[in-house]
Amino acid sequence: MSAPTQPPQFNPDLAREEAAVDPSQLVERREVGMSLEAPFYTSQEYYDLDIDAIFAKSWIFVANEAEIPDAGDYVTITVGRYSIIVTRDDDENVRAYHNVCRHRGARIINDERGSVGRIVCGYHQWTYGMDGKLVFADSQAPDFDPSCFSLRGVHARSVGGLIFICISNDTPPDFDDFAASVEPYLAPHRLREAKVAKQIDLIEHGNWKLTVENNRECYHCGGHPELLSSYFPVYGFDLDDLPARLVPARDRYVTAMAELVDKCETLSLPYAEIEELDTRPTGFRIDRVPLEKAGESFTPDGTAASKKLMADFPTPKLGRLGFHVQPNAWFHFMADHAITFSAIPIAPDQTLVRTTWLVHPDAVEGVDYDIDNLTAVWKATNEQDAGFVERAHQGLLSPAYIPGPYSPSEYQVEAFINWYIGRLRKHLAE
Ligand code: FES
Ligand code: FE
Repeated sequence: MSAPTQPPQFNPDLAREEAAVDPSQLVERREVGMSLEAPFYTSQEYYDLDIDAIFAKSWIFVANEAEIPDAGDYVTITVGRYSIIVTRDDDENVRAYHNVCRHRGARIINDERGSVGRIVCGYHQWTYGMDGKLVFADSQAPDFDPSCFSLRGVHARSVGGLIFICISNDTPPDFDDFAASVEPYLAPHRLREAKVAKQIDLIEHGNWKLTVENNRECYHCGGHPELLSSYFPVYGFDLDDLPARLVPARDRYVTAMAELVDKCETLSLPYAEIEELDTRPTGFRIDRVPLEKAGESFTPDGTAASKKLMADFPTPKLGRLGFHVQPNAWFHFMADHAITFSAIPIAPDQTLVRTTWLVHPDAVEGVDYDIDNLTAVWKATNEQDAGFVERAHQGLLSPAYIPGPYSPSEYQVEAFINWYIGRLRKHLAE
């Protein structure tokens, strides 16, 4: 549906009234093709709703298997009022538990990451096995049954080495079909065996949806000079209907894509686009596309950042496998390294963006790769994106804000919002 060309005139009295409107009313009157109304981004009530309806009920990407390579390794993740321990049990299975003691409810682990033989509560030392079972609780009554006090589990699944959790007790949205679709694309990159070369946490001063919306379009990519050195700036555009300034890039892209397709066919690497952004509970998009210049990697000159490739690829020039998943993750997989991104809400106006660079497990920093060269493009790009998100959030805080139209190249932003509104609608009806 096309957006109206004449937006309504600003009415400050109406804007003040809208800030107090019940979420179900704003969900129902949401106008397709237009950005959301301000309370979705600025109000504490809507933020709490997002945690309950979106982050607690969807599969969300929270860590890489490479972050917990050995049994007993863990990371803790905070999502709204939830704290989750993501770990590996003694059989090396990925597990997740609520970070809430079954004694009197204390937060069990305060550290963000570490390695343990058992999960021990820091209050009265109740001790749990890596399978979540209570194995020690001092000075209990004779009839105390430890089997009744296991840690409360959280659904956890890995696809290709990427760990997703679903916090809700209810049956989570189907993961198997999603995993079966994307695993063949991810498996050749051997992410389960990879090594974390670098992880950077960035706090963006904006609502989490602005972070994700910003990720889902390249309309603003003129603000990313480092990224544009290795990225064809035609992402999201109709190649047959491009602005004149993008036609030379389109021609280079078409040639590079033909070469990449030949290579993928030879190596049996999946490359075809799958785009199911708002048609399923775990909406996603995946495809393999070429990169500019040397075409090997996201580095300032486009050459591979790591001499050791992620797997036994015969060439470093395999473009970029791009992947994003609703609601909170996006990824780039190249022949020589991979980059994963998760966005986790902290407050209505704060979002944690965690970026992780993965390399071959035997790649040695300073020998096979230079960490500054490896991270330069996306470190700069993330900081620029944080600026865009903050700018967007500040504008939305003004009573003068009214929704505006998405451009055709922002169709993935619109698809994300369609997915989001659909999930809210389902939650509100339950
Ligand atoms: Fe954890 Fe007491 S609250 S041991
Ligand atoms: Fe950007």
